[in-house]
Amino acid sequence: MASETMTNVPVHVSMIMDGNGRWAKERGKERVFGHFEGVESVRACVEAAVETGVKYLSIYAFSEENWNRPQDEVLALMGLMVKAMAAEMKKLDQNGVRFMVIGNRERLDDELNRTIDDCMSMTAHNDTLTLIVLLSYSGKWDILQAAKKMVEEVADHPERKDEILSMGIDGFDRYLATAGIPDPDLIVRTSGECRLSNYLLWQGAYSELLFVDTLWPDFRKEEFRAALDYYSKRDRRYGKVK
Ligand code: FPP
Repeated sequence: MASETMTNVPVHVSMIMDGNGRWAKERGKERVFGHFEGVESVRACVEAAVETGVKYLSIYAFSEENWNRPQDEVLALMGLMVKAMAAEMKKLDQNGVRFMVIGNRERLDDELNRTIDDCMSMTAHNDTLTLIVLLSYSGKWDILQAAKKMVEEVADHPERKDEILSMGIDGFDRYLATAGIPDPDLIVRTSGECRLSNYLLWQGAYSELLFVDTLWPDFRKEEFRAALDYYSKRDRRYGKVK
């Protein structure tokens, strides 16, 4: 994977991977087949991100709401995550990719949590690309857990109450699960759905949004590069006049 020159490359690209089930159905297969193929798209996007110089790539792998799917699909997805992480980690490490998982990890089983911890510590020193998997994540969950952490901090350190209450936006950022990660410049959602579905609600306040019809298993390097091309033409004003 070699880096190449592109202009106005987003620092952080985020993906709402959607359409795996429909992709499988179109082929007369079980939904899980679409998820397997979706892992290939993750691999392609990681490679394209490294090649183009994107520094952070985040992917919405499983929302808090996805726990309500049929139990066999949930189990298949969790098994797939363990397998994919174990299979890909060496290569990710060799390519300088730092691996992170963000979300409500209390709901994940021990095997998956152990695999995540191993992969995170194995790749913690890398800095070519940070791959962030949002797993058992939702935007509202994140904001709520951040608010709870703040309340707990005030309860534990009453002498710091005024300091904590006077915090601004950046101060609150530090309580979010994404602390230390820059907000996404570009959020892409596949499969033709035009909504955020409880994704990075706080962090995506000024993200450019791109909704494409392509189903996630068909979203590969060419589609990733097309998304970067779309972003390079955007005029970001952040509420100001230019
Ligand atoms: C959405 O499609 C996709 C998911 C909920 C799962 C995506 C997960 C992966 C591709 C695995 C990633 C693995 C690692 C290790 C990061 P859908 O099932 O909602 O599709 P539909 O809308 O067509 O039903």
